[in-house]
Amino acid sequence: MAKEKILVIGASGQIGVELTLALRKIYGDAQVVASDLREENSLLKGTGPYVSLDVMNKEMLHVQVIRQNVTQIYLLAAILSATGEKNPGLAWHLNTQSLLNVLDIAREENLHKVYWPSSIAVFGPTSPKQLCPQQTIIEPTTVYGISKYAGEFWCKYYNQRFGVDVRSLRYPGLISYKSAPGGGTTDYAVEIFHEALEEKKYTSFLDENTYLPMMYMPDAIKATIELMEADAAKISVRTSYNLGAISFSPKEIAAEIKKHIPDFTIDYKPDYRQQIADSWPQSIDDSVARKDWGWQHEYDLSRMTEDMLNNLQFQ
Ligand code: NAD
Ligand code: SER
Repeated sequence: MAKEKILVIGASGQIGVELTLALRKIYGDAQVVASDLREENSLLKGTGPYVSLDVMNKEMLHVQVIRQNVTQIYLLAAILSATGEKNPGLAWHLNTQSLLNVLDIAREENLHKVYWPSSIAVFGPTSPKQLCPQQTIIEPTTVYGISKYAGEFWCKYYNQRFGVDVRSLRYPGLISYKSAPGGGTTDYAVEIFHEALEEKKYTSFLDENTYLPMMYMPDAIKATIELMEADAAKISVRTSYNLGAISFSPKEIAAEIKKHIPDFTIDYKPDYRQQIADSWPQSIDDSVARKDWGWQHEYDLSRMTEDMLNNLQFQ
């Protein structure tokens, strides 16, 4: 079988950096082309090919796919929930048109696979708050959530109508130390670690008891690769899979950090992001992913906290 050649779009972002490095370990450095609108992330430099690319320029994207003999695309470019509310038209345009560009090219060039992440943001205030199921009432109230829900159905449509093997996960809030988050409502759970180490105090933009579904980045990378490597016959969900790991509030993560930094303090000044967080579920039922392709998370809150602090201390 011919070797896979992978194009990662949005490779300099929070997920893109770690996913690109993980894919290079599996497929070989030269087989994974990183691309982004912004400059190459310093952690990617020297680890494999990089091209500057605007996913909204469909012709240029198409040229790159042909020139690089691309067989798979991981599309990570997007505007996230909090930033999206500042410019809804732009968020809608980027989040949906980028996906349509990639799906069209995947169809025309018979790409083997496409990966595109959705989010817990598809759920809205009328969805169940606890253990939100795979199929339920879905009425998103953010432009980000609306664009992700529309995107899920474009994935299903291109799979059913044109046979494009596009796969997707509804990521929860992702916590990581390698590259900074890009403007989401769950970003407080990354900022808190930096501030705890640098200032020993943090002001949370979400209220103390705001529970949200969360996940440590190594689990998100593992889930993404496991989904993409699963036998196509096992993929029963062609919109996007619920994916869960942990659920905590700002008060709970602060208490966990305090076990390592006893004089750490937190206070709370909720802003516009509180309303977004309040519209989302507090925890996710991901039993379909667990049944279909064997999903299992590894990190709980205490293991994640220890790993984040250890790694940030030595950066
Ligand atoms: P990010 O903002 O950190 O990274 C996105 C990257 O896309 C950036 O490097 C940006 O420069 C690039 N980009 C933006 N516009 C582009 C364009 N026109 N052409 C090429 N590149 C462009 O985002 P992330 O957190 O890494 O998220 C990646 C994907 O995962 C997104 O679809 C996001 O919705 C989804 N997701 C993320 C989280 C999370 O907590 N990080 C949770 C759920 C879903
Ligand atoms: N972490 C993301 C956000 O807050 C969820 O998709 O926007």
